[in-house]
This record gives sequence, C-alpha cells and structure tokens, in this order.
Amino acid sequence: MYDIPFLDLPPLTGAAGTVRLPGSKSISNRVLLLAGLCEGQTLVHDLLDSDDTRVMLQALRQLGCGIEDDAGSGALRVTGLGGRLQQHEAALFLGNAGTAMRPLTAALALLAATQGGRFELSGVPRMHERPIGDLVEALRQLGCGVECLGQEGYPPLRLTGRAGGAVDTAAPIRVRGDVSSQFLTALLLALPLVSGDAPITVEVQGELISKPYIDITLKLLARFGIEVQRDGWERFTIPAGSAYRSPGEVWIEGDASSASYFVALGAIAATGAPVRIEGVGSESIQGDVAFVDAARAMGAAVTLGPNFIEVQRGAWPLRALELDCNHIPDAAMTLAVMALYARGATRLTNIASWRVKETDRIAAMAAELRKVGAAVVEGADFIEVSPPAGSGWRPAAIHTYDDHRMAMCLSLAAFNPLAGAQPVVPVRILDPKCVGKTFPDYFETLFGLATADRAQVPVITIDGPTASGKGTLASSVAQALGYHTLDSGSLYRVTALAALARGVDTTDGAAMAALARGLNLRFEGERLLLDGQDVSAELRREEVGSTASRISALPELRAALYAVQLAFRRAPGLVADGRDMGTVIFPDAPLKVFLTASPAMRAERRYKQLISKGISASIDGLRADLEARDERDRNRLIAPLKPAQDALLLDNSAQTVEVSTAMVLQWWAQRGPFSTTGGGTPQP
Ligand code: DC
Repeated sequence: MYDIPFLDLPPLTGAAGTVRLPGSKSISNRVLLLAGLCEGQTLVHDLLDSDDTRVMLQALRQLGCGIEDDAGSGALRVTGLGGRLQQHEAALFLGNAGTAMRPLTAALALLAATQGGRFELSGVPRMHERPIGDLVEALRQLGCGVECLGQEGYPPLRLTGRAGGAVDTAAPIRVRGDVSSQFLTALLLALPLVSGDAPITVEVQGELISKPYIDITLKLLARFGIEVQRDGWERFTIPAGSAYRSPGEVWIEGDASSASYFVALGAIAATGAPVRIEGVGSESIQGDVAFVDAARAMGAAVTLGPNFIEVQRGAWPLRALELDCNHIPDAAMTLAVMALYARGATRLTNIASWRVKETDRIAAMAAELRKVGAAVVEGADFIEVSPPAGSGWRPAAIHTYDDHRMAMCLSLAAFNPLAGAQPVVPVRILDPKCVGKTFPDYFETLFGLATADRAQVPVITIDGPTASGKGTLASSVAQALGYHTLDSGSLYRVTALAALARGVDTTDGAAMAALARGLNLRFEGERLLLDGQDVSAELRREEVGSTASRISALPELRAALYAVQLAFRRAPGLVADGRDMGTVIFPDAPLKVFLTASPAMRAERRYKQLISKGISASIDGLRADLEARDERDRNRLIAPLKPAQDALLLDNSAQTVEVSTAMVLQWWAQRGPFSTTGGGTPQP
C-alpha cells in the first residue's frame, strides 16, 4: 500500500494479465457479524483484509468474540457469542465503515434492550455526517434505547437497555429503504437475535434502493440458518424460532465492485491479450457483477465464467450510455470514468445514494472529472459526463475525499493516451492509501497489468562516487514517490560475485558479458537474489566491490547490462542510482542528481558501516581505497563517472538523508506538471 501524500500515475497505454481480487467488503463484514452472533465456530476463508474489515474485527473482539488465525488453512476462526452478551459495555470506533456501523447498531441495540448494556458507536468525522436516522427510528419503534450523541439522526450513538428488558416485535417494523439499503440489511441481520414464538416482519417504506445488496444479505442469512421470507421488496419475514447456525466454513467471494475497475481496464486498454479477473463471475451473489452488462453496453468484450471474468477491448471509442444505476450504485462510479473514453455524453441516473456514501460522490466525481478536462452536469440524483477533446486533457491532482472508489476510479484517467490526448498527461492521486478501505494493493495490482511507453515513465537519476550515499538517498526518494529503485552498482557487484565464485576470467569482456546475460536475478525490495539465494550481504564485501569497479570498465559487460537496466523503467516511476544513470542509461531523465561528499566523509561513513557489521577496517585504508576507485571510475574510457551536463550537484557532506531527500523532492516538484511554477496547468 502506498502510504504517501500523493502517487503520480504516468500516462498508460495498455493492459493485460490476471488479477486475483481481494474478498468482497459487503460479504466479509456481513459474514463476520453473523459468525460473531451465532453459536460456535466459523472458519472464514479469503476474508478481505482492509480498513473496514479491521474495524469490524476489532469491534467483535471488544465484544468478546474469539478471533484467531487458523494456522493450517490461513483462514480466520471466529467464535461467536451465541446470542449472549459477554461485555455489557464498550466504546466501538468504526472508522468510515458503513457496513460495520449499521449492522452493529442494530445488533447491539437489540442485545442491550434485552440483556442490558451500554454501547457507544462512533467513527471518523465523515461517518458522523452519514445519516442513520431511519435505522434509529426503526429501533426505537421496537423499544430500544438509542441516543444520538451529536446531531439527531447521525452517529455517534449510545445504545442502552436493562437486563430482562423486552422488545416489541408484534407489529411490523417499518424502515425506510430509499436512503440506504443498509438500514434494512442491519435489521435483517440482527432481528433473529430476538426471534421468539412469533414471526417478525419488516416493512420497507419508500422505494427500496440497491436491491442486490439485500439479496446478498438474504443469501448469507440463509447460509447461517435463517430463511427470511420475502414478499416483493416490501415485506420481509423472519420465521418464528429462527436461530443462527454456523455453516462451519465460509468462503468469501472476490469483490465485484473492485472487479469493475479491471473490467473497465480491459474495455479501455486490453487491445492484445485480455485482462482476466479471478474471484467473481456468473455464480457470484453480488449484484455488482451486473456491472458487466453495463460495460458490455459501452463496448467491452466480456467472457463470463462461473468464477472469472475476461475482458478485452470491443467497441472503440466506447459507446456513450444512459443508464439507471440504482441496482449497481458502487460499480456505477466506474462507468462515470469509462465515459472519458466514450463518444458523446454518458448519463447515469437514479444514483441519489451516492450523496450519502464515503463522500458526496456525485459532487466529488463531477469536480474531479472536470479537473481532467471532462464536461460534467450533475443533479440531485444523476451525473452526465462528456469526455475531453484530445487537446482538452489536463494533468490533474485528484482529491480522493477519503473515498477508496474515487481513487480507484480516477486512476483510469491515466489511460488518456488511448483517448488521443495531446499531449498525454499524468494523473496525480492524492492520499492514495484511501484504497485500503477495500483494496490495499490496488495500485500495485494496476501497475502489474498496465503498460506504458518507457519514455513516459519518469526517472530520477542519482549518480556519484562510491560511498556518497546514493543508494540511501535513492531509496528514500523512491519511497516518498512510490517509485521503483534501480541500484545499478549491485548489477556490477553481482556479476563480480558470480565471476569470483565460478572462476570466470574477470578481464575477459566477452566471457563477463555472457556471464551477466545468463544471471538468474530477482529483486525483492532491497534484497537481491542470485539463483534464489539472497546475496545482498555478500555484495557489500570489499573484494566484490573492487572487482566490480574493475569489470565495470569492460565495454562488452556494460552493453550486456544496458537492456537489464532499461527494463527497470516501469510505472509509476524509477529512481536509479549509479555512475552513468544520467549520462548513458537514462539520458532523457527529467531530473538528474550528482551526489558528492568529501573523501574524508565518505571514508568515515564506510568505516562506520563496516564496524557496525563487525568487520574491522582502518579509515585511512578505506579513504585510499575509495580515492583509487574514484580515480578509476572517472578515468575509464567507457561511461566514466562524471556529472551529466544537466545534472544538479548535491554535496551531502554535512547533510542528513532527510535533508537531501527533501532537496531532491523539491527539485522534482519544480519539474513536474503539478508544480505551480513548472510547466502544465496547475490544479488545486
Ligand atoms: O555503487 P557501487 O559501489 O555499488 O558500484 C560498484 C561498482 O560498479 C563501482 O565501482 C562502479 C561500478 N558501477 C558502474 O560502473 N556503473 C554504474 N552505473 C554503477 C556502478
């Protein structure tokens, strides 16, 4: 997950490959609650690990449910309360998770009213702006003690009751269904707690929205032994004597709403091989798979399997659409972004519920799509999007409003080259970690499937002499930007290590080049694996370093490593350090830094590094050694160590890494299209 202030997506041009979806948020939190309320243990497989499920799990733990990892299966073992409160008082913080707030409110209100208790439920400020009044009203009709601690009709809430109390379920319970279907879901999930000799009936007032989500609720209740009878979408009856029964094991489907981004990706960018999405398909219980029909209507070529979806580009440009999206409120947001790639205006209607979600999604979507250049008309319950003209695309810094779906949707604007954008533009996603609500690895997954023109992928080069701190600075800059790193020295070092180990003549250029080409290397973060073995520590040995310095003068070897280094230039971007990153390998890099420090300072740093690893050394010896190496790196005929003409010099002799990093980031900001002083159009 990118825990950084912003993530810049370069212009992207294609996509192909397979994505395994994280578990569905809606199913995960419903299953957790049901498993927490029922008797006995439930083994939950493929649970979504995200912000919203984490708050639900934490709440269940506070209430006394057993939550353990099942070592054998990797599943989660939930031991339920069996309908009996263990804790009669708790303060539960539920973040911005509607799927936790609404059902826990209903369940704890009923439990407190009958068994006695006092529970306070709160969330982030946005949660306290999301209405819950209709549910509160319904619970009060039953005789539950529900207090709104801030504004009436909104969380935070206090739920109270006395032991031995009763709730009145004789009359039908009326709940409104036209603001959020989650109020009805909450009641249906919780009411079996107070099931007795008579059936309990819930009546929906107003047109029920998001019906497919009620379907998920009913199907999961059935898995836990509760067969709700449904009359149309107006009356729901829980039979007398209903009791939750654990099914023993439950498998969570992939998230169909999350699938929508990859369906869109395929429709927009899969011009060769398809994008294959695993974890949902035609047998899904999630209504959002109906998104596939909408995507097809816009032109996507879709093959639907029981548990997978394969998507390729069909019609292009996409076809504009007018669609009632009431049945797919969440996935419909993705259609609003697909509209950027359609001919004409796409109008999505009957989406008033967008206004009470993680943010006011109609307003947010309109504002952010306008930033990238689209023309947008919004109304109380609709949005209409017309794509930018080719010259109308703008590099936009996208606000995400702490809304995962805003971040994931707008990331698709990075495919503007496919819409004929002139010039092509990057997209900046602010607060990218908001995707943690449902899809923590969303961007990594996207970058794994997407392709970009190499020239469009930004590179920062950091060259300099040995022990100048290039590697440390490069890692730190890369981390701040979410970019990949290339420690090019490690390629020379690992070739040296392999040559020493295998007895290859280190002066024979052709042999060394052949050796380098055949190396089986894998980079895992900061670690380098040679033939599957982690050799990161060995690469730092002095003998390896000095051999690397000598062999790096061989033209054949440098040529062999050229393509290897270019391949590191992948979205979202690269920070490459070495000797010739700015001069030879990435001469078009928009920012080149030449890092230096005095020989005395570098010798001292290297000395401390070695001593800390328990290796004895002398400062004078190290200094002589590194000056000799500087000399050799500077004077070799091929790719000598020297600053690129357009490099910025940074002497870090008296600077901490933090200060150097801030300096480089400031230079970078000045060059990008998002700077107010640099080129491009600044966006608020
Ligand atoms: O940065 P380092 O000490 O890990 O590099 C090891 C050797 O590799 C160094 O002495 C010079 C060589 N090298 C090079 O010639 N070109 C690069 N881009 C990086 C390193």
